[in-house]
Amino acid sequence: MTILVTGGAGFIGSNFVLDWFERNDEAVINLDVLSYAGNLSNLESIMDNDRHLFVRGDIGNSELTSELLSRHTPRAIINFAADTHVDRSIHEPGSFVQTNIVGTFNLLEAARRYWRKLDNSNQAEFRFLHVSTDEVYGSLAADAPAFSETSPYRPNSPYSASKASSDHLVRAFFQTYGLPTLTTNCSNNYGPYQFPEKLVALMVLNANHGKSLPIYGDGQQRRDWLYVGDHCAAVRRILDACRIGEVYNIGGGQEMSNLEMVTTICKILDELLPNSEHRPHTDLVEFVPDRPGHDRRYAIDCSKLEKELGWTAAENLESGIRKTIEWYLENETWTENVVSGSYMNWIEQNYGERR
Ligand code: NAD
Ligand code: TYD
Repeated sequence: MTILVTGGAGFIGSNFVLDWFERNDEAVINLDVLSYAGNLSNLESIMDNDRHLFVRGDIGNSELTSELLSRHTPRAIINFAADTHVDRSIHEPGSFVQTNIVGTFNLLEAARRYWRKLDNSNQAEFRFLHVSTDEVYGSLAADAPAFSETSPYRPNSPYSASKASSDHLVRAFFQTYGLPTLTTNCSNNYGPYQFPEKLVALMVLNANHGKSLPIYGDGQQRRDWLYVGDHCAAVRRILDACRIGEVYNIGGGQEMSNLEMVTTICKILDELLPNSEHRPHTDLVEFVPDRPGHDRRYAIDCSKLEKELGWTAAENLESGIRKTIEWYLENETWTENVVSGSYMNWIEQNYGERR
């Protein structure tokens, strides 16, 4: 048996593939275009594994995806591939439309053509699992109940709007063609191999190097944080057990403000690096102009997943963040390789104009 994973050289995708090989003997076709966020060194430990076939390519290339599907006959596609950073979507929305909407559409079309030709039992077994985000639901008021699977879609950034569009396409392919789809909407992830443009990875990297910790606006925006390993476990569980056409929210129930998150990171760094000249790391905090259209609050109600499929997050925020910081401190070469010329251009583009 084989599964096709897209975006498997990115942050969550590579954690998923690495976890998969620890727990499963099925082969993985790993399709990734290797954008700036894709990093083959995440997969170093499995590059020689016979059950892992890495293919550099675009989910929007139907010829390629059709060829991979007919050659390897996977029982499932797990679609992680996307443009994912809200700030980049503000600078360059077109690429998000192309990857997240057109790319997902082309992948769905290739999947539909492949699935139609399968025999009855393989058709019944096949799954198209689309990995999406809680950001499609928009922003919550301070006292509003957490997002559930029936919350209306109200995306506010080009990123979340493009993910919302892809979710609608996935739904339509289930309703119209019967393609056996599943959709997951997950909260903010953190953990090893995250590109240091997202809050947690950026703050750990900057604090460790004594650089400023840029907090957008007043830092009181709230996010629900989930350790990436828990997200991977939820995806595996949903793939195995859930009814087709269903949508599942995934979240850690660990809601906190950005300022609280950065303070937590700083305190753990103070403790792990007692000789650092940058202690206390909270002195590096700098408030910078806010992100346009910045969502104030996300919170996820994942009781459906917990009740129906028995999933719960294994890590709490303290244990997960500590593990993550330790990983970054032990893997400085990984970070150094990632922080290339194009990374510095991004830092200048996003933060230069805020100062
Ligand atoms: P990431 O940016 O780290 O990785 C995305 C990967 O997709 C990269 O390896 C990139 O090279 C690849 N990719 C981009 N365009 C592609 C294309 N056209 N064809 C093939 N590959 C392509 O993202 P991530 O944080 O790992 O997110 C993975 C998925 O999870 C995304 O769909 C995202 O929307 C969703 N998600 C992320 C979070 C989070 O906190 N990071 C939370 C919820 C949901
Ligand atoms: P991010 O990690 O980009 O995820 P998302 O926007 O998808 O939730 O940002 C998380 C939160 O942290 C978000 O409210 C924006 C904020 N943030 C900062 O305050 N400063 C930063 O430098 C970054 C990258 C994010």
